[in-house]
Amino acid sequence: MCGIVAGLAQRDISKILIEGLHRLEYRGYDSAGVAVIDPAGELRRARAVGKVRALEDELREAPLSGAIGVAHTRWATHGRPAQHNAHPHLSSERVAVVHNGIIENHEALRGELEGAGYVFTSETDTEVVAHLVDRELCSGLALPEAVNAVTARLDGAFALAVMEQRNPELLVGARQGSPLVVGVGIDEHFIASDPLALLPVTDRFVYLDEGDMVAITPAGIQVLERTGDRDELTPVTREVVRYEHSVEAAGKGEYRHFMMKEIMEQPRVLSRTLAERLDPQGVRLEAFDVSRHSFLAADNGAEKGKQVVDVARLTQLFADVRQVQIIACGTSYHAGMVARYWLEEVAGIPAQVEVASEFRYRERVAAPGTLFLTLSQSGETADTLAALRDIQKLNREGPQAGHYLASLAICNVAGSSLVRESDLSLLTHAGPEIGVASTKAFTTQLVALMLTTLALRQAKGDGQTDDLLSRQLLMRLKDLPHVIEQSLALDGEIAQLAEKFMHRHHTLFLGRGSQYPIAMEGALKLKEISYIHAEAYAAGELKHGPLALIDEDMPVVAVAPMDDLMEKLKSNLQEVRARGGQLFVFADPEVSLKAGEGVHVVTVPGVCRFLAPIVYAVPLQLLSYHVAVLKGTDVDQPRNLAKSVTVE
Ligand code: M6R
Repeated sequence: MCGIVAGLAQRDISKILIEGLHRLEYRGYDSAGVAVIDPAGELRRARAVGKVRALEDELREAPLSGAIGVAHTRWATHGRPAQHNAHPHLSSERVAVVHNGIIENHEALRGELEGAGYVFTSETDTEVVAHLVDRELCSGLALPEAVNAVTARLDGAFALAVMEQRNPELLVGARQGSPLVVGVGIDEHFIASDPLALLPVTDRFVYLDEGDMVAITPAGIQVLERTGDRDELTPVTREVVRYEHSVEAAGKGEYRHFMMKEIMEQPRVLSRTLAERLDPQGVRLEAFDVSRHSFLAADNGAEKGKQVVDVARLTQLFADVRQVQIIACGTSYHAGMVARYWLEEVAGIPAQVEVASEFRYRERVAAPGTLFLTLSQSGETADTLAALRDIQKLNREGPQAGHYLASLAICNVAGSSLVRESDLSLLTHAGPEIGVASTKAFTTQLVALMLTTLALRQAKGDGQTDDLLSRQLLMRLKDLPHVIEQSLALDGEIAQLAEKFMHRHHTLFLGRGSQYPIAMEGALKLKEISYIHAEAYAAGELKHGPLALIDEDMPVVAVAPMDDLMEKLKSNLQEVRARGGQLFVFADPEVSLKAGEGVHVVTVPGVCRFLAPIVYAVPLQLLSYHVAVLKGTDVDQPRNLAKSVTVE
């Protein structure tokens, strides 16, 4: 989705902005642009449809330079991908705006501005912001006050960076519903929608709170909070946080694609997600972080320099959980579906899983004692965030409206909106995930979900009785990175198998029990990056319809670990084979399945049935990767998709 990078420096900023745009490319976009105020005081702009490379070509023809600038990658929402719709948008040749998100009331504002004589040159919702700011400046307001007055009139979610030709030493940013960070440098400061954009110039960031504005001048950064019915701006102090990953962590290293690098990183990042979270008694509750205003924060936490969780309160909260409501989108939703099996069987707690875009728009009944659990790699997915905000609103309205005990986010991005707005969070330490297809984020989410399941089980126990299942699972978790390494060793075999898929138009994925969501995840990966239509079914559903699709042109991928459902799955596979279907089975060494005519078996390392979903996800990731490479698609930035879906 759209990306913002902007800055004010004491040197030419154009190269920093272009490098920042390259670093935002992974998010998905269709056009790019940049504007600077040049040394002669002129507002200059360049825009191009397509990749940032196209913008660079344009800049080679007509270079831009200046110490202040705003730049953007656009993912079209209002108006097709075209140069005139690309950002930055200007007003009166003196205001330049870049914008992420959607201005919902843009049509009414456009009518009003046209009535006032403004001429629009794009179909975007963003252009209204440029003209509104211009109108406020004309009425005599300074830029921060003008932006504040304008944002007060905007409905929807947005992040903005704005500059004014007459004031080349002032850059203003505003955040409302879309992420925005301030990059803190030495004598130069920046704004971006994602810290990754700025890693070459700084590793220190201020994460703006909802509703914050920032004014950047040569004197420094001033974060402004809107108070008094939003028309007053009060300076506030926000913490400066050091980014924990290196610039290299966001690079491709020796790999051809980010996706492959990220698949191969899994043993290491799974170890990191487990590290320091286990002790001989079980899961350490200190692993859960609390947000600044959380009722679970220890009273003396802030004195220790970091807000920490009150372990006694959290133990009580976990003991009180009667139900878990899991909300997520895409791959994260599949992780949630696996967790449902674990929560019910391991922790004995009923769980419901729903995609955020459905949950947020229906009337719901929350059972008392419900823990609201969100899953997200980015922590910025619009629907997931909206679902969280919705239940928080219900909780504020009183017990008759909502019964959610607390909100817990399992997330990969420390300063993300989801983490900051949830009561509790458990970070996955997958490191930056750049490939649009989620891989290491998924398996680390599963590990974090197993830790949460065990923590809930612990809280329900008496703390005295020896808990054999917990002990066994903890042991197996410690061994998991090693098993994943063995799983990755299947890469060569899977690369060969991929050749059998590259000319197919459809593929069916089958799984049972907690492997059904893994079949769904395998299908999502394949369609997402190879553009092959793929569907997943719980294998027991085959006879209820999809069996009609089976013929020799329909490859059927099955996930077959050693568990209680194995014999039943084998019968389902026989049904496929009897109708001429080509089977590709990822199976446990103990599953006696013979390869032969129409049956390909890939033996996956043996693993305990609870952790099998994590292990079986890996060969399916490799399969879709190799099919996509053979088909020559854009593996890391598949068509039409964005890494982080920050608009509805
Ligand atoms: O950042 P999130 O985990 O909230 O993102 C959710 C989905 O958009 C994401 O998992 C998407 O489905 C991936 N591209 C799948 O590979």
